[in-house]
Amino acid sequence: MRLISGIQPSGNITLGNYLGAIKNFVKLQDREDITDFLVFVADMHAITVPQDKQALRQNIKSLVATYLACGLNPEKVHIFIQSEVPAHAQLGWILQCNGYIGELERMTQFKDKKEKQVAGVSVGLLTYPSLMAGDILLYDSDAVPVGQDQKQHLELTRTLAERFNNKYGDTFVVPEPFIAEAGAKVMSLTEPTKKMSKSDPNPKAYIALLDDINIVKKKIRSAVTDSDGKIAYDTVNKPGISNLLTILSCVTNTSIKDLVEKYKDSNYQQFKDDVANAVALELEPIQKRYNELINSPKLDEVLNEGRDYANYLANKKIAKVYNKVGLGRKTK
Ligand code: TYM
Repeated sequence: MRLISGIQPSGNITLGNYLGAIKNFVKLQDREDITDFLVFVADMHAITVPQDKQALRQNIKSLVATYLACGLNPEKVHIFIQSEVPAHAQLGWILQCNGYIGELERMTQFKDKKEKQVAGVSVGLLTYPSLMAGDILLYDSDAVPVGQDQKQHLELTRTLAERFNNKYGDTFVVPEPFIAEAGAKVMSLTEPTKKMSKSDPNPKAYIALLDDINIVKKKIRSAVTDSDGKIAYDTVNKPGISNLLTILSCVTNTSIKDLVEKYKDSNYQQFKDDVANAVALELEPIQKRYNELINSPKLDEVLNEGRDYANYLANKKIAKVYNKVGLGRKTK
């Protein structure tokens, strides 16, 4: 089974990205049934909204160091930068030509992001899910580990794959989303009915993996909760406490049910202290490894291998796709 996933280097990687995506990659890389695993830095996606050139370069590098610091093993996972594999853009274009404006306009993430763009909405923001579909279909990926917010894009990927297969003959594997039960939707600490997002203008709303540990603890201790004083899992009436339970459950590998039992007689302050300490314990070694890696030649070594392997697979596939569509001259 082949897996692929990517993250945008568009700012601070958050605890949401970690629990919804990276931590699962780390678990999955050891599974025997996974023969091939590719994880990339989705830098072409990041430019759908304005980016500062220097900051983007830094964020790309930082995400690679973060992948390794969190435990991705380059012996098991091929790590690469999307823009270093031109076939992503090539297939993205072909899929754009097979997608409909209406279906892209229906994407919730497009609708949300569109609202936030003051300086104009780029065409790329609308067509971005066809680039994402290209990222996945290029490698005949069987499954895509992502958080809940990417489910709709995965459904579109499946639609585009099926449409293409019907039109041009069997070409793409139709991939399955792979969404973990816990941590697939970590919520904002200040507005727990909203998803935790790295682009949130309020830094108290999210925990960045590289936040100073004391700040991490402070943010958790001041997370918005309710005033009923009971620790219970109820995402409708107690979204703040439920979110902290989810976070604690993920970082301690304990079920929410067991945690609710454990904290049934505790007050919010004790509970928040425990969540703060557990998250700190998880992040400290990651930060230590990150600092060792960020300026080491290891990053380039890993990225060179990943780029070459991804290009090898992607170029074979894009040649087949060109032939199916009738582009250029026929190649063997
Ligand atoms: P991105 O960069 O927004 O997020 C990266 C991953 O983190 C997950 N995630 C969350 N999980 C739980 N709680 C949250 N609050 C939270 N916020 C983000 C996302 O679901 C995602 O798995 N379009 C993608 C990147 C991408 C991609 C791909 C992914 C481009 N091509 C191909 C998979 C396959 C994105 O913007 O993710």
